[in-house]
Amino acid sequence: MIPSTIYKLLFFVSPLAVILLGEFPALDADPLTCWLVEEVGSPRSIRQTPVLLVFGDSTGLTPEPPVTPEPGTLVFYLSDPSGQLLSSGFTSCELTRHLPQEVPLNWVRSLTEEQVSPPSLGKEWYTMSMRDDKKGIAVSSVLGPAGDKKDHMAVSLAVYTSSVKVNAPLGKSLALPCGLWRGKQSRFAVEWRHRALGDGKVLYAYDGWRDRIEEELPGYTMNFSTVHSKGDASLILEKVETSHEGTYLCIIYVPYLRAQRDIHLQVTAKPQITLLPSPLFARPGEEVTLFCEISHFHPLEISVDFLVQLPGETSPTLMPGTSLSTHGNNQDGTYTITGYQRFTASPELHGARYSCIVNHASSTKAMSQSQTLQVAGVLGPSIEDGMYLFLVALFLYGFLSYLHRKFKLFFSTSREEPNDKQKKNKGE
Ligand SMILES: *[C@@H]1O[C@H](CO)[C@@H](O)[C@H](O)[C@H]1NC(C)=O
Repeated sequence: MIPSTIYKLLFFVSPLAVILLGEFPALDADPLTCWLVEEVGSPRSIRQTPVLLVFGDSTGLTPEPPVTPEPGTLVFYLSDPSGQLLSSGFTSCELTRHLPQEVPLNWVRSLTEEQVSPPSLGKEWYTMSMRDDKKGIAVSSVLGPAGDKKDHMAVSLAVYTSSVKVNAPLGKSLALPCGLWRGKQSRFAVEWRHRALGDGKVLYAYDGWRDRIEEELPGYTMNFSTVHSKGDASLILEKVETSHEGTYLCIIYVPYLRAQRDIHLQVTAKPQITLLPSPLFARPGEEVTLFCEISHFHPLEISVDFLVQLPGETSPTLMPGTSLSTHGNNQDGTYTITGYQRFTASPELHGARYSCIVNHASSTKAMSQSQTLQVAGVLGPSIEDGMYLFLVALFLYGFLSYLHRKFKLFFSTSREEPNDKQKKNKGE
């Protein structure tokens, strides 16, 4: 390559580099306010100190932006090679002190078998937990020392979820989203727990360094190839049952450090709704009970209303005094309930439309079933009745005229036969 080409290339590359640096989020990001939460004193109390997080790069090539914090506010200069901390506007951020340590679990032991702990472990470490309540995303990261300055830190491990609350339809398969960033660290382990009492039950444990599944309950899997290639450690539930509901912990270990994220799973089942009696007939003065049977739904919380749209009115009105039965439990963990509503039939209610409206977590829209009331002996035959009578008359007419023709033929032939014979006889 001749020198002039190199010069030209440099000429093109340098504006590009400037653009790339300008796009780099770490340099653009606004400082973030976080709270350092500590237990202090005796008797112990919680102390909260505001911390201003100033994002920068760890190379020190770009000057740090000037900050003038409020008195009493700490300033941390943070470099984030994971790129996870800048991805959105977090609505809450909390820092706690992190104590690096060995973990006595089978699937974590291999991570520290070398027994060489870097001296930086003796310095200050923090766990930072951030949440974006609007988007439902959350990140937990471990911050460690960067260089010699006490207020300079770098992310060394991050665990994140795209959804802290997951709604899962009963019977379908599902992935509980969890991602990890571990830099160049090749020793790591993934653990999934279902939190019930205490620390909860281990559902799945994977030693990523040895590439070995250490614990695995039936019905739960993980895709190791995506764990290694993309840091996607999502737990796959083969078939969602109501017993799966609850809080899950996605815990990631690297040597001496750990970070975790919680994900809440709600199992939903959409109810079947039947409004009885069907069809809805009544005599004038009769007391009518409407039954709205709502079956096989989950979770239990549900709202049931009855509406009536009277003949000639353009919109329905709420019927007061709906009562609900106690709920029944189905074998699959779903519930069944019946709503009741009473009214007295009268001639004016003929043609009124009664609806049962159900609102439930399994559907963003209200679900409903309707019946139209027919009051006996009112208003005479309706248009529909008239149509039926007409059709019956038409059928009878056709049938009778067919019979008429058939009989006429029969009688005429039976009468003619002897005549023919007679004629023949005469002819012989
Ligand atoms: C794991 O994920 C990869 C990439 O998304 C996919 O091609 C593969 O089929 C998955 N493996 C299993 C066992 O599901």
